[in-house]
Amino acid sequence: MKITVLGLGYVGLLTAVGLANSGYEIIGLDVDIRKIQMLQNENIYIYEPGLDEFVKENAKKGNLTFDTLENVSCIDSEIVFVAVGTPSQSNGSADLSQLNNALEYVVDRASNPLTIVVKSTVPPGTGKKIKEIYLEKASFSHSYVSNPEFLREGQALKDWFYPDRIVIGGDDREATTLISHLYKDINAPIVITDVTTAEMIKYASNAFLATKISFINEIANLCDLTGANIDGVVQGVSHDPRIGGSFLRAGIGYGGSCFPKDVRALDFISTINGHSFELLKAVINVNNRQRFIPIQILKREMGLLSGKKIAVLGLAFKPNTDDIREAPSIEIINLLIGEGASVKAYDPIVDGTEKNCYCQEAVFTKNIWEAIHEAHAIILTTEWDEFVNLDWFEVFKYTQSPHIIIDGRNVLQPRLIKEIGFKCFGIGRNTHRVFQLQA
Ligand SMILES: NC(=O)c1ccc[n+]([C@@H]2O[C@H](COP(=O)([O-])OP(=O)(O)OC[C@H]3O[C@@H](n4cnc5c(N)ncnc54)[C@H](O)[C@@H]3O)[C@@H](O)[C@H]2O)c1
Repeated sequence: MKITVLGLGYVGLLTAVGLANSGYEIIGLDVDIRKIQMLQNENIYIYEPGLDEFVKENAKKGNLTFDTLENVSCIDSEIVFVAVGTPSQSNGSADLSQLNNALEYVVDRASNPLTIVVKSTVPPGTGKKIKEIYLEKASFSHSYVSNPEFLREGQALKDWFYPDRIVIGGDDREATTLISHLYKDINAPIVITDVTTAEMIKYASNAFLATKISFINEIANLCDLTGANIDGVVQGVSHDPRIGGSFLRAGIGYGGSCFPKDVRALDFISTINGHSFELLKAVINVNNRQRFIPIQILKREMGLLSGKKIAVLGLAFKPNTDDIREAPSIEIINLLIGEGASVKAYDPIVDGTEKNCYCQEAVFTKNIWEAIHEAHAIILTTEWDEFVNLDWFEVFKYTQSPHIIIDGRNVLQPRLIKEIGFKCFGIGRNTHRVFQLQA
């Protein structure tokens, strides 16, 4: 069976190669010619562990090809997956322009009735509108299915083969059955709903996870004020199976290409539907505030930051990805530069050149030692293994007084770090008292 995948970012490329691996004949299309050229040469432009090998393997089998939009005059596949971006607009709403362009393209070039499957995260109600705007007026009778994606960057392949669930929303039984069959090799519960419910499931999932993060961050902030220790608190509460232990690591807040924009979009959707989603607003505010904590600690410990040498370890919003969209590191670097600090940053994968042009005054180093050389303070912003497993005795020799480490992800062993001679601060680990938290 022929399948077209439109949009070859983190989600689309995984979808294309995952379906090719199941034996379908896949053509992947993207508006970005540079990406297509790289893929045609079996190179990929994102860092996702194992994905490059998986692309090469499937491309060699001959059932995975890539092309530009212009080169395809008609779409003759049975199914089209759409996995284009849905970034935030300044008012928090999801920008659906990539999606609209993709759908116009698909409808315009279809040479037969298609099942159009939207994997992009779109506000509840979008599918209904798409049907009215594009599909009802199309030359063929296309079906519409919502199939939101739940992959986690850094473990996308694992999530493709072993997802927690597959959600398929559609009003046309034949179409939902067709899409369910595509996943027949994958052992996961399949939730079949209507389109709007499927769209809401995706937002509800991300909003809930973001809520857990902001909740534990607030508990951590209170730990710092009361003398409790967040590690012990999490250990204690997570034994309760109703609570569980995941997403309860306190730190400088969530980032990335999904949580921030999806939580804002859900808040926007609530507002335009006449509902004020107070919990979500608090989740957003708490998350924004967490990023100020390292700056507050540094100012308290060193006074003015002007001229102080600060090393920022980690640019990616989490380990094992090169994605820096809305990464806390970027905002922290900008805040430090705003305070007059001299910032050197290092990430094992993000090179800090092209992708980070908006932090122009920071120096992006090729290795950790250059970044920490003579640093007064180090802020650990991404919990890469390389940082967790560092020889901190060696690190100490490179840094200068007051030898501060702010562990923004609570992954270091504070006792060991302090024994070496550092002043070590975590989030809620009873290692400091946050003064007045201000956004
Ligand atoms: N990245 C994740 O971890 C993740 C996880 C689950 C869901 N999602 C959702 O999936 C969607 C895609 O996310 P992503 O991270 O893969 O985005 P991305 O920005 O990495 O990729 C989007 C791709 O679409 C291409 N594109 C844009 N307009 C196009 C068009 N008209 N025709 C063809 N290609 C076009 C872009 O060039 C880009 O390569 C978003 O809605 C996102 O919220 C992302």
